[in-house]
Amino acid sequence: MRFPAEPFRIKVVEPIKITSQEERETLIREAGYNIFSIPAESIYIDLLTDSGTSAMSDNQWAGLMLGDESYAGSKNYYHFEKTVRDIFGFKNIIPTHQGRVAENLLFSNILKKGDVVPSNIHFDTTRANIEYHGASALDCVIDEGLDPSNPHPFKGNMDIDKLEAAIQKYGKERIPVIMITITNNSGGGQPVSMNNIRQVSDVAHKYGIPFFFDACRFAENCYFIKEREREFRNKSILEIARELFSYGDGCTMSAKKDGLVNIGGFLAMNDDNWAQRITNMLILIEGFKTYGGLAGRDLEAIARGLQEVLDENYLRFRINQTRYLGEMLDKEGVPIVKPVGGHAVYIDAKRFLPHIPPEQFPGQAIVVELYKRAGIRAVEIGSLMMSKKDPETGKMIPPRLELVRLAIPRRVYTNMHMQYVAEALTKIYRDREKLRGFTIEYEPEFLRHFTVRLKML
Ligand code: F0G
Repeated sequence: MRFPAEPFRIKVVEPIKITSQEERETLIREAGYNIFSIPAESIYIDLLTDSGTSAMSDNQWAGLMLGDESYAGSKNYYHFEKTVRDIFGFKNIIPTHQGRVAENLLFSNILKKGDVVPSNIHFDTTRANIEYHGASALDCVIDEGLDPSNPHPFKGNMDIDKLEAAIQKYGKERIPVIMITITNNSGGGQPVSMNNIRQVSDVAHKYGIPFFFDACRFAENCYFIKEREREFRNKSILEIARELFSYGDGCTMSAKKDGLVNIGGFLAMNDDNWAQRITNMLILIEGFKTYGGLAGRDLEAIARGLQEVLDENYLRFRINQTRYLGEMLDKEGVPIVKPVGGHAVYIDAKRFLPHIPPEQFPGQAIVVELYKRAGIRAVEIGSLMMSKKDPETGKMIPPRLELVRLAIPRRVYTNMHMQYVAEALTKIYRDREKLRGFTIEYEPEFLRHFTVRLKML
């Protein structure tokens, strides 16, 4: 079999409401063509995000029953700490309720105005947390990573020359940390190679700059390393993960992705001084250091999820399910970002709808049509979400790419669901000339995609 079948069987089911196209047309019109305003109950297949949407295993659910809800020193914390240390290897482990809190705690303790934080590509919340402190988030991904059809096997890699140039330009005193996102979500879920991680680590440490991972999808990245870097062909995912993290000084983590849980995260680091300061701050905003805004049972579910995510059979299915969807679309000529990344398939809306200009939101036209016709929720990552305004003319400056993300929740949908998605999109692609763009009826001052209201042209 070219694509592996599900390496699990289904023990509990959640029925999904089936709606008619007519009902969906009313719902999306009333929602001002904003997919965030549709009640999840009226969605058939929800590909809005892979974050916090995983199905837990029977083993994780059993772990919930063993929750020790002591305020201090819960036994689940010790299990969580031991598991994280065993995989990631860092000395200090600080639980948080999700990834962006880990980012906020880190940056509010180490950044000052005018600092610069290089990464391959920062995720939105990371960028926002850096900019909130008056610092700049600098993307240094390789040029291949910005080209939707370049087949490079590690399009998440950092460009070492760009990194060196940034250090020369700003000076190491203004760079308190170098980060790298594995896999690179904002660049299409593309992996970073071990070789690149070694190089970034060498550069960082040559200048005495700490090197941190944004580790949300670390296991998926390790699977790509095993698949694509010869040296690691016979290594286990755990061995690969341990080596990878050994090159860094810490990480931020949203366990809502590769922790296989619905809520949770952590911050880990070797530096005791930073850890001490951050722990004091944690107590101020999240909770005591042995729970960090989570219930004991949540920590148990994370500990178990982190062990399960390293299972190669699970990862083979996971990565190939995403690839399966991508290949079905590619075969029908639907333009997608290639190679297919770990957690999502990205549609290239510019090539899909060349007749709709960026000012009329081509990605959103696909999102709306996909919901209307098939009850599928995807998300636009293009001029609606990412464009900037020219401060002088007030005109929209669209981003380089107009994408639609189909993010696949872990262990939730079957390959038959993927076929359904591919068929729906293929049909829309065949009728693409009929699709129309949108204009804005209402928009808030910032983060407009969440609450914007649109009118169909
Ligand atoms: N870093 C990366 C690479 C992410 O993808 C996310 C979240 C975060 C940090 C923040 O984690 O949500 O737990 O606070 N990504 C989600 C997504 C929201 O849909 O891609 P969080």
